[in-house]
Amino acid sequence: NPNYPKMEGSSGLQQVSCRAKGGAPGFKVAILGAAGGIGQPLAMLMKMNPLVSVLHLYDVVNSPGVTADISHMDTGAVVRGFLGQSQLEDALIGMDLVIIPAGVPRKPGMTRDDLFNINAGIVKTLCEGITKCCPNAIVNLISNPVNSTVPIAAEVFKKAGTYDPKRLLGVTMLDVVRANTFVAEVMGLDPREVDVPVVGGHAGVTILPLLSQVKPPCSFTPEETDYLTSRIQNGGTEVVEAKAGAGSATLSMAYAAVKFADACLQGLRGDASVIQCAFVASQVTELPFFASKVRLGRTGIDEIYPLGPLNEYERVGLEKAKKELAESIQKGVSFIKK
Ligand code: NAD
Ligand code: LMR
Repeated sequence: NPNYPKMEGSSGLQQVSCRAKGGAPGFKVAILGAAGGIGQPLAMLMKMNPLVSVLHLYDVVNSPGVTADISHMDTGAVVRGFLGQSQLEDALIGMDLVIIPAGVPRKPGMTRDDLFNINAGIVKTLCEGITKCCPNAIVNLISNPVNSTVPIAAEVFKKAGTYDPKRLLGVTMLDVVRANTFVAEVMGLDPREVDVPVVGGHAGVTILPLLSQVKPPCSFTPEETDYLTSRIQNGGTEVVEAKAGAGSATLSMAYAAVKFADACLQGLRGDASVIQCAFVASQVTELPFFASKVRLGRTGIDEIYPLGPLNEYERVGLEKAKKELAESIQKGVSFIKK
């Protein structure tokens, strides 16, 4: 029966393909690292997203099982699985959006930068595939350290002559998600009504919540400001320690990644006023990359917003953030240029 998912490949369920379902409109999305702790719930949530018509799930292990499982969900997106480097290009051809959560996560006691040696090479290889197969795709980069992997991706794309800074976005959405949650807790608000801009980067002091710009407007005591800033900056470590060696944030990250990917797809569709924070090539500060609010459109980033007025606490935080960010960015650039 041609309606049954088709399993192909010598090592079992390498590909699952279904008959196209009446040409439903939507975007083609690939997840690289789809069998991981983030990848699996992310794949599930993207399969539930009505803006997705085709979902490609790529990993170096276990993607056949994840693909078979997800493909049974009775939602619109057609799911196909790809296993191993030899199938990377097939996974990427024709994609509108590529989401990358591939790479190793932290264990207690590690910084995100400790992941650089392994994850830099993984991101390089995956981005080389993107230059060849879908150079116009929007790229959402999740793999840590984001402050270095985004500059790595940019250098790979530059080398290949396909770099468009409007299409490369480091995912810092989890910092915003955490900030909204923690501020809502302190202020007794519904987190769905809270919007906290988080700028800078995605590691320790580079994560800079702008509590003076929270919506709805809130005023915090100095103790609340210290508590919230520190909790938001250390949210990742809080999860790493609670998981005690079993990895870092996966479920809240998948939620955040889908929230961000959905915003990118809404932008591609042409929706007005789609605004989220992301770590992008930027002229908002003197650094070549910086996270701030961006407006997403049909070709990726349409506009990058300035930081707005900062209070003294935030100005001090900004200087600390820039110092660390500059080094992390340079480390990423040098990895490709060396
Ligand atoms: P995980 O180990 O559970 O999953 C990673 C997956 O990547 C695995 O399935 C692995 O097989 C796959 N992988 C490894 N090398 C690959 C390659 N060359 N090509 C394709 N896939 C490959 O880890 P996780 O918990 O899902 O975390 C993944 C990454 O995301 C880590 O670097 C982590 O630090 C990062 N992360 C970022 C954020 C953020 O806010 N940006 C949040 C959480 C985690
Ligand atoms: C996070 O913020 O949860 C991720 O960057 C993972 C980590 O290592 O903290």
